[in-house]
Amino acid sequence: MTTQANDDWWRDAVVYQVYPRSFADGDGDGTGDLQGVRGKLPYLRELGVDAIWLSPFYTSPLADGGYDVADYRDVDPRFGTLADFDAMASDAHALGIRVIVDLVPNHSSDLHVWFQQALAAAPGSPERERYMFRDGLGETGELPPNDWESIFGGRAWTRVPDGQWYLHLFAPEQPDLNWENPEVRTEFHGVLRFWLDRGVDGFRIDVAHGMIKAEGLPSVGRTSDDGGRQVEMLGSEPLPYFDQDGVHDIYREWRPILDEYPGGRMAVAEAWVDSPERLARYIGRDELHQAFNFDFMMAEFDAESFRTIIDKSLAEADLVGAPTTWVLSNHDKFRHVTRYGDGVIGLRRARAATLLMLSLPGSAYLYNGEELGLNEVLDLPDELREDPSFKRTGESRDGCRVPLPWGGTLEEGFRFNPDGQGTPWLPQPAKWESLTAQAQESDPESTLNFYRAALRLRRELPALGGGKVQWIDSPEGVLAFRRDPGVVVVTNIADRPVTLAELGLSGTPLLTSSPVPTPGTLPADTTLWLLG
Ligand code: NOJ
Repeated sequence: MTTQANDDWWRDAVVYQVYPRSFADGDGDGTGDLQGVRGKLPYLRELGVDAIWLSPFYTSPLADGGYDVADYRDVDPRFGTLADFDAMASDAHALGIRVIVDLVPNHSSDLHVWFQQALAAAPGSPERERYMFRDGLGETGELPPNDWESIFGGRAWTRVPDGQWYLHLFAPEQPDLNWENPEVRTEFHGVLRFWLDRGVDGFRIDVAHGMIKAEGLPSVGRTSDDGGRQVEMLGSEPLPYFDQDGVHDIYREWRPILDEYPGGRMAVAEAWVDSPERLARYIGRDELHQAFNFDFMMAEFDAESFRTIIDKSLAEADLVGAPTTWVLSNHDKFRHVTRYGDGVIGLRRARAATLLMLSLPGSAYLYNGEELGLNEVLDLPDELREDPSFKRTGESRDGCRVPLPWGGTLEEGFRFNPDGQGTPWLPQPAKWESLTAQAQESDPESTLNFYRAALRLRRELPALGGGKVQWIDSPEGVLAFRRDPGVVVVTNIADRPVTLAELGLSGTPLLTSSPVPTPGTLPADTTLWLLG
């Protein structure tokens, strides 16, 4: 099966996020790579995903795991070559799997040739105009130009030897590009075309709400020194460096480029804004196709929260005329097994939430390793943690980036190449021995086989993916809804088992997130798909 021409494929797609450094290691050096991804495509085909989204694999010093790009048109040697990318994408397409790549337009790496040229050039030069250089305040310019804070902690400005400051909303190794400069815009049109010409099916836009900053770069007026980090305002209050109206001009220039290419090339925004109305502005015929909806991921494991967020998300989708996206885990947040309590209970709840998510209208984004039921690795030695925010704030996203366990034993573990000698770049916990893909293969109750079954049904049943959610009256702690034609979904988050009889439901069970010891009774922390 090859990918079919269907411009709307993304509307209900199941997209699997590959974190290339940690997904699969094709050359046995302990770091994942594109050869590794290529080798695992049959596994992904069997899992049943429609597309993969690759986090950055471009040339990068990996100061922020690759979200610091030094060359937007090449592959980092640690991840392979452009030829490896082409071979991987071609195999993916032959297997019916589409390929989405990450685009990081808000900032480059400090090792990008443009930034190196800017450092070597004088204040006011065209080289500096590609970034956000400013003179400082104070008598000798010794104070930063304003009070903006980095998302990773500390101030968002770094001073260079000639006294000017440059803006970096993330790490100092990630200087913000100046999107008021036409040269920057032209450059990214070229980058889009470069990857579209190589056949990519879409882009995930990193910090899609960044790029344009408020005129005059006004201070926020609130800093960590007053007791609240600016990042805490993200998604709830306006900030002068995010979600500025001018950012939409950029997407209006990008959309015709995407539309020039056949087969439904799409873009999904990572945009943290403070209202559904603001988010809606990113989506539409003349801008981007989708935006991540992170509310589901941020929700407590609680029926009321889930229901409120489902209703809100569906209303938002109506507002923009495009189905929403659902996410439970990604490379920036604790894995959902751990968020829901870790251990047996955390896994049970994670599976229940996953089956709920996969029954909702819209597309679903899975994060590599969630199909194995992996937990967040909390006890990594500090000296091995690489997240740039760890040094500044003590918060670390390394625990969700531990390489996946593939083989029957952890020694084979990450190594896809059986002759490889490499040790995974972050150590895998010993208890993952029982969670390797190989160990789960033959266990019908394993999380891997559960995901496979859910994705197979989602493909087979027209009720899932598109359509509406029709709520069914249910007792406190229970979510029940109908998905026409013919599927009923029940999630029991009450602290007791519920019977289908008390919900007035009957039908043939299609799949449950955990075993059901008594037919007709749904244990706590379980989701059921029912044909009825
Ligand atoms: C969002 C990405 O998901 C995250 O991993 C990264 O650190 C920031 N953007 C900066 O690029």
